[in-house]
Amino acid sequence: MQLLHLDSSLLGNRSVSRIISSEIVTRLMTLHPETSLNYRDLADDPALHLSAAHFGAKRGAAAMERVLLDDLLKGNAYMDELFQADTLVIGAPMYNLSIPSPLKAWIDRVAVAGRTYCYTANGPEGLLKNKRVFIASARGAVYSAGNAAAALEHHENYLIGLLGFLGIQDVTVIRAEGIAFSAEAKAEAIAQARKNIAAITQ
Ligand SMILES: Cc1cc2nc3c(=O)[nH]c(=O)nc-3n(C[C@H](O)[C@H](O)[C@H](O)COP(=O)(O)O)c2cc1C
Repeated sequence: MQLLHLDSSLLGNRSVSRIISSEIVTRLMTLHPETSLNYRDLADDPALHLSAAHFGAKRGAAAMERVLLDDLLKGNAYMDELFQADTLVIGAPMYNLSIPSPLKAWIDRVAVAGRTYCYTANGPEGLLKNKRVFIASARGAVYSAGNAAAALEHHENYLIGLLGFLGIQDVTVIRAEGIAFSAEAKAEAIAQARKNIAAITQ
C-alpha cells in the first residue's frame, strides 16, 4: 500500500484530528505492514495561496522570485505524492464551518484540469481512479444529519464532494464532533472515533 498522510490542524499536540489521523495510519499499517508512508504537515509547511503569479509562471513569465519557484515545486511534489498514493488519510479539522486554509491550499494545487479532472461533452470527469480516502474529522459542535446545525456543514461535505469531483468515491469519515461542549463530550467523541478506527478491516 502507498499511503499519503496529510495533517492540517493548527493546534499541534492539542489537535484532535491529528490524534485520529495518526491512529488511522497506525491501524492501516497494522493491516498492511508492507505500507510505504508519505507524510505532509500542511499546517507546519503550507503552500502559498494560489495567485495570479502562479498562473503567470505556468504560462512562462520570465522573471520569477525564488519564493514562487519553491512554491511551484512544492505544488508539483503534492501532485506527485497524490498520484503515487493508493490510500490517503486526511486530517481535517473544521475551522469556520469549513476546512483549514493550508488544506485548501493543497487542494488548489492538486485539483488541476487535465491532470486530476477534465471536462467532457457530458460534464466534468474525475481522473483519479482506484484510490480510497479516510477523513479524520474533528469539530467543536455537532453538524451530523438531523442536527440543527446540519445546514452549516461545509466541511466533510465539501471534502467528499471535491474528492468525488476528482474521481475518488471510496471515502470513509472517522469523526469526533461536539468536542467543545464539555471534557466528557470530547472524551466520548474521541472514544467513538477510536471504535470506528478499530472497525477498519482492510
Ligand atoms: C480557528 C478555529 C475555527 C473553528 N471553527 C469552528 C467552527 O466553525 N465550528 C465548530 O464546530 N468548531 C470550530 N472550531 C473548533 C474545532 O473544530 C475543534 O477545536 C476541533 O478539535 C479542531 O480540530 P483540531 O483539534 O484537530 O485542530 C474552530 C477552531 C479553531 C481553532
